[in-house]
Amino acid sequence: MSQEIVVVTGGAGFIGSHCVGALLAEGHRVVVLDNYVTGKRENLAGFADSDRLQAVECDVRDGIWAPLSAVERDHGPVTRIIHLAAQTSVVASIGSPVDDLRVNAGATVQVLEYARHRGVKRVVLASSAAVYGDVERLPVSEDAPLSPLSPYGIHKLTSEMHLRYYRKVHGVRTAPLRFFNVYGPRQDPHSPYSGVISIFMARALAGRDILIFGDGEQTRDFVYVGDVVRAILGASFSDEAGDGEPMNVGTGRETSINELAKILVAATGSASSVRHAEARAGEILRSVAEVGRLRERLGVVAETSVADGLAETVAWMKAPG
Ligand code: UD1
Repeated sequence: MSQEIVVVTGGAGFIGSHCVGALLAEGHRVVVLDNYVTGKRENLAGFADSDRLQAVECDVRDGIWAPLSAVERDHGPVTRIIHLAAQTSVVASIGSPVDDLRVNAGATVQVLEYARHRGVKRVVLASSAAVYGDVERLPVSEDAPLSPLSPYGIHKLTSEMHLRYYRKVHGVRTAPLRFFNVYGPRQDPHSPYSGVISIFMARALAGRDILIFGDGEQTRDFVYVGDVVRAILGASFSDEAGDGEPMNVGTGRETSINELAKILVAATGSASSVRHAEARAGEILRSVAEVGRLRERLGVVAETSVADGLAETVAWMKAPG
């Protein structure tokens, strides 16, 4: 594969930093755009020696022309953009819907405007299973009705519609990916908005009680970050993606929160006990992706089992520094 110039917005974040590693390993030049609100410089520390990585501190909401001008001058045109910069919390979006609109939809349009005028070959978007809302049929396919229940879901759907529009009207090749519950090393457990795996893991390692909301029989499709990165790279480079149509990124397997707690306690060797608390209001009971489109179009199968993915994540959490 010839070397390309790939921009990763949110490249210092959890998923972004794993993408950066994979792109560098394939020989590409990588430009990270990040405002370091949730992204962390330490997530990129392992790649500091690479002369093909450049990180520019900026806010994608303000446009990406200026931050990329020096890159274009020194290395030529940007060829692909992986747009991961986002406000990732559903709960926060309910509290601050206007901010969420600016970040989760406004920034996407900025990226697409740049791509349209600069002839970028592909724009990949981190969308979300939140675009579906409550679903009637499982596993949920990309053709299911879309009825998001939060500003977060609405703005991810808005972004997807922009991707489709830019494809149809301006000819920009685009690929929205609907992530299910992503987990793995570098996911921050300390935010009140953290995903359940990072919260449980931090508690298990600290010997604190694990708190399950409700009876724990609710399910999610937990997908390991390494598998998500393979989907992102496939969507960025494969000729089979880019028509603006969305693809689910999940495993197709359901795991209940009770099972998750059990696997996690075993993986950490923790003495934590598991307690139940009141169920979360508005909780979705079951969630699992139909993954045929991802497999057929990109040849990507998210094959990491929850047990293996958790073992990797535990190893990272226990690692010094
Ligand atoms: C995501 C959002 C959530 C939103 C929901 C609506 C995040 C991190 N979560 O939740 O805010 O309401 O989409 O689509 O943005 N759980 C526990 N104990 C904990 C934490 C979570 O039992 O300490 C359970 C939850 O009740 C849930 C499951 O774990 O059943 C997964 O929770 P989470 O990781 O927050 O993801 P979503 O439920 O998908």
